[in-house]
Amino acid sequence: MGAAAEIAVTGTTGGLGGRVTRRLAQRGIAQRLVVRDPARAPDLDHTSVAVGAYSDGKAMRRAFDGVRTVFLVSGEEARDRLDQHRTAVDAAAAAGVERVIYTSFLGASPEATFTLARDHFHTETHLRAAGLRTVALRNSMYADLMPYFASDGVIRGPAGEGRFAPVVRDDIADVAVAVLLDEQYDGATFDVTGPELVTLHDVAALLSETTGQEVRYQAETLDEAYASRASYGAPEWEVTGWVTSYAAIAAGEMEVVSDTVETVAGHRPVSVRDFLQRLHTDGEST
Ligand SMILES: NC(=O)c1ccc[n+]([C@@H]2O[C@H](COP(=O)([O-])OP(=O)(O)OC[C@H]3O[C@@H](n4cnc5c(N)ncnc54)[C@H](OP(=O)(O)O)[C@@H]3O)[C@@H](O)[C@H]2O)c1
Repeated sequence: MGAAAEIAVTGTTGGLGGRVTRRLAQRGIAQRLVVRDPARAPDLDHTSVAVGAYSDGKAMRRAFDGVRTVFLVSGEEARDRLDQHRTAVDAAAAAGVERVIYTSFLGASPEATFTLARDHFHTETHLRAAGLRTVALRNSMYADLMPYFASDGVIRGPAGEGRFAPVVRDDIADVAVAVLLDEQYDGATFDVTGPELVTLHDVAALLSETTGQEVRYQAETLDEAYASRASYGAPEWEVTGWVTSYAAIAAGEMEVVSDTVETVAGHRPVSVRDFLQRLHTDGEST
């Protein structure tokens, strides 16, 4: 397992955890990377690798052994994701972990319109019940996803004229590192958002402007949204998750602009416009 590390980071093979682990490595901070596939673990200085999936309590317990602080990236969408999270949290508590920084979602609540945001609320609750000092980063929708919203030049979804403030994963990672390294934030819940509210009409206009290819937003009713996704063959819970992520925007549950990036990470968050312009100039974001 390698050198002792006080900080374990999960999800390092992914977009957000990868950003966090690279930032910690740049600062020379020792970390344990908890991954499902060791062959894909980032190759960084001052890191050791432990293998575990959230559903495997024994492996997670071993992976967290001797660790004080965990950056816990929420798992991929799954019907039993909440159970997987609870298993990982219980393993952390059993291993003697003291602090967990968890990647939650804006508006996490048992009644959230976005059904998958309910998992996040219950995971936050479970972390605190397990006696772990918790920081919940309730992230808005990733700005990084905006280019993928359009299909054949059309963004379709039941988001009405609702507004939201997409946030880039780089800014979330900056917040995460600040929180990981400063215990004054323990116990806090942060909404992590971009700097400005946009509608999906705005996102379509920005995509058109930055790519030079016409994109438009077509608001769907809920029935139309379920019907337009019926042919994907995805399970019902997943389709409901997709549809309700837009419905949460329509319901106003995403209409939040926070100052978290500025106050915790110490810089202005990147706007969707700036993100898309940079993406167009510099190429793909990972
Ligand atoms: N705010 C938003 O707009 C938004 C959008 C999409 C997702 N999310 C949530 O935010 C999380 C992080 O975002 P991201 O961009 O970093 O996602 P990502 O690029 O898909 O990375 C997810 C990471 O979590 C790991 N992981 C997933 N399920 C796991 C499990 N059951 N046990 C152990 N490790 C697991 C993955 O490992 P592998 O490489 O082995 O798969 C990967 O390293 C996502 O997993 C999802 O829960 C938020």
